[in-house]
Amino acid sequence: MIAAPSIFRSFFSSPASVSGNETASLSTASGLNPEISIKGLNVSIGKNHILKNINLEIPNNKITCIIGPSGCGKSTLLKTINRLIDDNEHVKVEGEINIGGENIYGKKVEVTHIRKKMGLLSQRPTPLPMSIFDNVAYGCRIHGVRKKKELAQIVEANLQAAGLWEEVKDRLHSPAASLSIGQQQRLCLARGLAVKPHFILGDESTSALDPISSRHIEDMFVKLKEQYGVVLVTHTLRQALRIADYVIFIYLGEIIEAGPAKELFHNPKHELTKEYLSGVFS
Ligand SMILES: Nc1ncnc2c1ncn2[C@@H]1O[C@H](COP(=O)(O)OP(=O)(O)OP(=O)(O)O)[C@@H](O)[C@H]1O
Ligand SMILES: [Mg+2]
Repeated sequence: MIAAPSIFRSFFSSPASVSGNETASLSTASGLNPEISIKGLNVSIGKNHILKNINLEIPNNKITCIIGPSGCGKSTLLKTINRLIDDNEHVKVEGEINIGGENIYGKKVEVTHIRKKMGLLSQRPTPLPMSIFDNVAYGCRIHGVRKKKELAQIVEANLQAAGLWEEVKDRLHSPAASLSIGQQQRLCLARGLAVKPHFILGDESTSALDPISSRHIEDMFVKLKEQYGVVLVTHTLRQALRIADYVIFIYLGEIIEAGPAKELFHNPKHELTKEYLSGVFS
């Protein structure tokens, strides 16, 4: 059996904001059904209790940004949502995460199916050591697509969706490594999109890029939310201000406050949120 590539392993009038142990429902008042519903989630690694009683509802077709200081559990939350956390044998996960009505920690759930559904774009691009074309076609080939014409259509459509087609259409068979870092990140986005995820998760996926490439990826996220749910961890408050519809502020493994971006940024309810936003700590 072919080993799963990293994209599968690591792939992929507003409600009032809430704090404490209430369920942070980001979607109810906008009339959307929450696509991701997290109930009583606790995550420990060894003796370290990392995520504490997380209750959260995240909508589809919006950009939700997760913010908070280093080490507060942002990446752990994303990895728990696509079960990448399972790769650590010392992890204990309690509680429920329902995605589109399916409890992803249910007994019969296949982990590769969840990782495909929740494509994760990591901090640094991770192109496979093959051509641009083969990178995008890889996941579909694994899932049994063989016809050349069909693969060519999939590759073009997803390179278009990731905003890379015009730059690479004349060199599809060049190595992916010949692309710039920003282009490689868009290639990884195209590779994730090709297996039809439900959600796109990004863990500081623009932080290793130059400002122009970073804005390019941001623009892609804004376009892609029409078709997907987008959940992004970001250290850059300005980025969250530019693109977030909803924001979740985590501190020491707890959700301190969550709600519509405008409300949370302009009228934060919790003292810790105010301090974080004003740069008292980072
Ligand atoms: N594999 C691990 N083993 C033990 N502890 C871990 C492991 N991974 C993460 N942690 C701990 O869990 C806590 C949360 O880490 P996490 O990576 O989720 O934070 P983060 O908010 O993403 O931080 P950053 O902004 O620096 O990326 C930290 O205290 C970290 O040391
Ligand atoms: Mg992190």
